[in-house]
Amino acid sequence: MIKRSGKCRPLCAVLAALILLISICCAGCGQKDVPVQEEDLIRVGFSQVGSESDWRMANTASMISALSEENGFELIFDNAKQRQENQLLAIRNFIQQDVDYIVLAPIAESGWDDVLQEAKDAGIPVIIVDRQIAVGDESLYTSWVGSNFLEEGQRAIRWLEGTVQQQGRLNQPLRILHIMGTDGATAQIQRTKALNDAARTHPGWKIVSRLKGEYTEAKAYELVRDFLQTGEEIDVIYSENDNMTFGAIRALEEAGIRCGTDGDVMIISFDAVRDALKLCLEGKISVCVECNPLHGPRVASLIRQLEAGETPAKLTYVDETFFSPGVLSEELISGREY
Ligand code: AHR
Repeated sequence: MIKRSGKCRPLCAVLAALILLISICCAGCGQKDVPVQEEDLIRVGFSQVGSESDWRMANTASMISALSEENGFELIFDNAKQRQENQLLAIRNFIQQDVDYIVLAPIAESGWDDVLQEAKDAGIPVIIVDRQIAVGDESLYTSWVGSNFLEEGQRAIRWLEGTVQQQGRLNQPLRILHIMGTDGATAQIQRTKALNDAARTHPGWKIVSRLKGEYTEAKAYELVRDFLQTGEEIDVIYSENDNMTFGAIRALEEAGIRCGTDGDVMIISFDAVRDALKLCLEGKISVCVECNPLHGPRVASLIRQLEAGETPAKLTYVDETFFSPGVLSEELISGREY
């Protein structure tokens, strides 16, 4: 049986095809089917950010389901619990285990050059998923697939501009509370950039405070609760993910503040997970900007392309949309995968 490695994939693919052909012929000659051997599986080490959000859980489920044994993969999954040092350790372990591919969902953009150079020296292709990385040498990774986080932010801003324009207050003061995701993550950097750009072009828009919610409900709840105790008033919350939004809504409601476009505070939220869409349908969240977590089949397809000796696109952005209460229904929400 052939031991797969990252260095002889096209040859392995040809040999594997020949073996498959021979086994089919043998079956035709009255011999029993040959079961898929463990050695035939493509070994993938996946370093996941953590389990900080509903989005992340949906992403993990998608990866595990696509990179299953049934689909020809052996997945070695590592949950970094939101710590980059855990991701560095996981990647070094994958290199030690001589996996065929490393898949990295990076917590932040920087800090990857050394460890990815080690992966490259070991001949292991690296696929980046979800957030991006900033490396000096782009050949340190093979391919990236994920969201256009800047476009997501701009989509939210276009919605806000359209809404305040309809309310006849486009050029009036707007007090915005910004709840930020993990520092240095592409999702944080780009969604923040969209808001900052908008604040520059609308002199009346004031970012009254920036809270570092780390993409978790618990952290955002505490920060928003403490912020509200200062007595500072706000018109809009720009929350960089749904779980932080859930925490913010809890804090607002405890303080007797009404959420919604017709309430006291409009909430802009990113991800569009099912529970957020339900709150949007209720009118508590004014707009949910979609961030699609279903990257498992996309990563599997990139690996298949590499196995076939093809060169996949360096960057692949997924299609996304946004939802406001008017377009939502129970049926639409229950029909979605996450
Ligand atoms: O990188 C994607 C972001 O990470 C999602 O918006 C957030 O929910 C997740 O934790």
